[in-house]
Amino acid sequence: MRRRVTIRRRTWLLAGLLLLALSPARGALAQAWGLPEMSGETKACIECHKIENAPIYQQWGASKHYRANVGCYECHAAAEGEPDAFQHEGQWIATIVSPKDCARCHAREAAEFGQSHHSKGARILGSLDNVLAEVVEGNSGLITPAFQQGTSAAAVSGCWQCHGSQIKVLSGGKLDPATWPNTGIGRINPDQSEGSCAACHSRHSFSSYQARHPDNCGKCHMGPDHPQMEIYYESKHGIAFRAFRDKLNMDSAKWVVGEDYHLAPTCATCHMSAAPAKRATKDRAATAGMPLTHDVGMRISWNNRPAVSIRPEVSDKKMGLPGAAVNWQTRRDNMKNVCINCHEQQWIDNFYVQYDGLIDLYHNKFAEPGQELYNLAKPLLRPVEFSNPLDFVWYEIWHHEGRRARHGASMMGPDYTHWHGTYEVAKHFYSEMVPELEHLISAGRASGEAGKSTAADALEKKLAEVLGSPNHRWYLNQMDPAEKAERARRQAEFQQRYSK
Ligand code: HEC
Ligand code: HEC
Ligand code: HEC
Ligand code: HEC
Ligand code: HEC
Ligand code: HEC
Ligand code: HEC
Ligand code: HEC
Repeated sequence: MRRRVTIRRRTWLLAGLLLLALSPARGALAQAWGLPEMSGETKACIECHKIENAPIYQQWGASKHYRANVGCYECHAAAEGEPDAFQHEGQWIATIVSPKDCARCHAREAAEFGQSHHSKGARILGSLDNVLAEVVEGNSGLITPAFQQGTSAAAVSGCWQCHGSQIKVLSGGKLDPATWPNTGIGRINPDQSEGSCAACHSRHSFSSYQARHPDNCGKCHMGPDHPQMEIYYESKHGIAFRAFRDKLNMDSAKWVVGEDYHLAPTCATCHMSAAPAKRATKDRAATAGMPLTHDVGMRISWNNRPAVSIRPEVSDKKMGLPGAAVNWQTRRDNMKNVCINCHEQQWIDNFYVQYDGLIDLYHNKFAEPGQELYNLAKPLLRPVEFSNPLDFVWYEIWHHEGRRARHGASMMGPDYTHWHGTYEVAKHFYSEMVPELEHLISAGRASGEAGKSTAADALEKKLAEVLGSPNHRWYLNQMDPAEKAERARRQAEFQQRYSK
């Protein structure tokens, strides 16, 4: 760090003077420092690299960093002795520019990001899903200098590219090929910082336009288990975005909804960007307005990732994040402060009634009983997870289909809520999970083992209780007679009205 501190002290002084000159007009600049002129070190880098990598030079040359004289050396400089530092043409540098490096000039963004789930994205690498990538789907066939015993190619090119790798440094500052290239959101860097700003801010443009574009989040937030990107493009918000993307002013330095753009919200609008203050009306209190946040958890009131959704403060507590002190009601109010710029209070409040309703339905009808049944079936299963058909069936019900239903409802995507969501949950619950449980019950009985017989009895009792409950008794052709009569009456009325 010694060397960095020196650059910093010299430039702080100059940057301070620059700030004084600009401050009345540009208060927002207060945390980022530029240099009054290009450093000699950077000029030397450019001499070679404008020939070596013309595109890098061009991208940087068109960026705000170039205009602030923040050059190659200001980002890539490293101190001798840092784990990934290497000597390069007379300077100590590192290829990786970690959040700690960006933090020297962007302290607030780095601190917020550091408190978010995003920066912890690589901590899941020991989770259940990784049994999938390492064992079920994968093997230890990829041998690299840092992984002499091998690692799974499915994890390297799959999970790690979204969640982040733990970077391994080889001799001379070279980076292990299993762990680099990588811009996963929670990448564990050689300086022990977590995350990658380049997950959203691609170098060397570091363009706000690109950061605000929904496709930017879509690298990770897509696919069968978290299709936020597809849901957004299905929704009216995504439709408006595509219709009006050229009119959203996404290149502007200031980007406040209702002031700088109004035609559509992007992912950033709802989850990160600034919203203006609002005066009080008879339906609501005044709001102070919200600044841009790099903690994407601060506006969501559910965490819909587990089988049964939990509140975000509960998941933050588990991860030891300061968000443990921010309850879901506050976060929901934050989100509403965004919506209120384009909608009225009733529209927003009623939307949340619809969303909570879907979560309740999924919990009561499928997730809670499903989880109990799966747990009761465990003594009847082969001991290794994913060696039983039931493991896959239950996993897809909650991890893929049940998430799609919840995510669809949360972001106004009816097709994902229904056809890719609740329909698939119901189809697999009735046509795969229930028959598989029945099979396990009879196989457990037939096994002649006392333990399995007892487990089979307990499972059978629970299954009968679940299927006999008001949510499921239609399946046994035991729908409540009053409900059945009412449905028949409505059907007849409908037919009379619309037949002919
Ligand atoms: C004399 C020419 C020259 C100068 C000066 C120079 N570079 Fe390089 N740099 C190269 C070449 C050529 C490569 C390709 C790899 C190699 O041959 O070492 C490279 C590679 C790199 C890499 C990638 C390393 C990797 O293995 O991924 C980075 C980062 C880099 N340079 C940054 C800088 C910075 C920052 C400066 C200024 C402090 C700088 N370079 C100065 C020529 C130069
Ligand atoms: C604002 C900070 C910043 C500036 C300024 C900057 N870089 Fe980088 N550079 C990065 C980041 C971030 C990465 C990606 C590494 C990572 O993910 O940590 C990177 C990666 C690189 C790489 C490896 C790219 C590859 O695909 O192999 C090279 C080479 C490089 N930079 C050279 C330069 C040169 C030359 C300049 C000056 C013209 C420059 N950088 C200016 C932040 C910066
Ligand atoms: C030496 C200080 C310095 C470092 C290091 C630095 N930046 Fe910057 N950054 C600035 C300055 C100065 C600006 C220009 C602010 C302005 O014009 O409003 C800026 C602007 C930005 C912007 C806004 C661009 C836009 O189009 O509005 C982004 C995004 C950004 N930096 C990201 C990063 C990331 C990510 C890193 C680390 C990879 C980084 N910066 C490293 C000083 C720095
Ligand atoms: C396409 C990018 C991508 C890939 C590949 C990917 N994930 Fe994820 N993963 C995500 C995103 C995005 C989320 C958060 C989803 C949400 O908020 O709805 C997530 C969530 C998770 C969670 C839940 C975290 C929590 O807070 O509850 C776990 C565990 C997980 N992933 C593990 C894995 C493992 C292990 C693999 C490889 C077998 C993997 N993922 C592959 C993008 C990915
Ligand atoms: C999840 C994606 C994401 C990650 C990761 C991310 N950013 Fe950003 N960042 C954005 C978006 C989106 C914007 C533009 C928001 C706006 O202007 O409304 C932005 C804006 C910025 C700006 C301009 C701020 C301003 O006031 O104009 C800076 C500087 C910045 N980011 C730095 C960083 C740094 C440093 C990191 C890593 C510690 C980082 N970002 C990580 C998405 C991200
Ligand atoms: C490089 C992959 C990647 C990118 C790009 C990305 N995310 Fe994420 N996101 C993740 C992962 C992984 C998680 C789950 C982290 C965890 O809980 O372990 C996540 C979680 C989230 C969460 C839930 C946070 C919480 O506290 O529970 C939100 C909201 C979110 N992302 C929004 C965004 C938005 C908006 C963007 C774009 C501006 C974006 N993400 C870009 C990978 C990514
Ligand atoms: C109109 C505003 C809006 C837009 C646009 C939007 N979201 Fe959301 N998002 C929401 C709301 C509302 C929720 C549910 C919040 C809650 O639980 O209270 C949500 C929830 C999420 C979650 C949490 C999922 C979980 O597992 O709990 C993620 C991740 C996410 N959005 C990512 C994105 C991405 C990526 C995009 C763009 C492709 C996007 N959002 C666009 C409003 C929006
Ligand atoms: C930048 C403006 C903007 C923001 C911010 C915004 N919306 Fe919208 N929203 C729209 C537009 C435009 C439509 C389409 C209206 C139409 O079809 O007439 C829409 C439609 C909707 C719909 C109707 C969907 C349908 O299929 O009919 C709902 C529900 C909704 N928004 C909820 C929200 C919620 C909740 C938030 C905050 C999390 C929010 N919106 C934030 C602009 C916005």
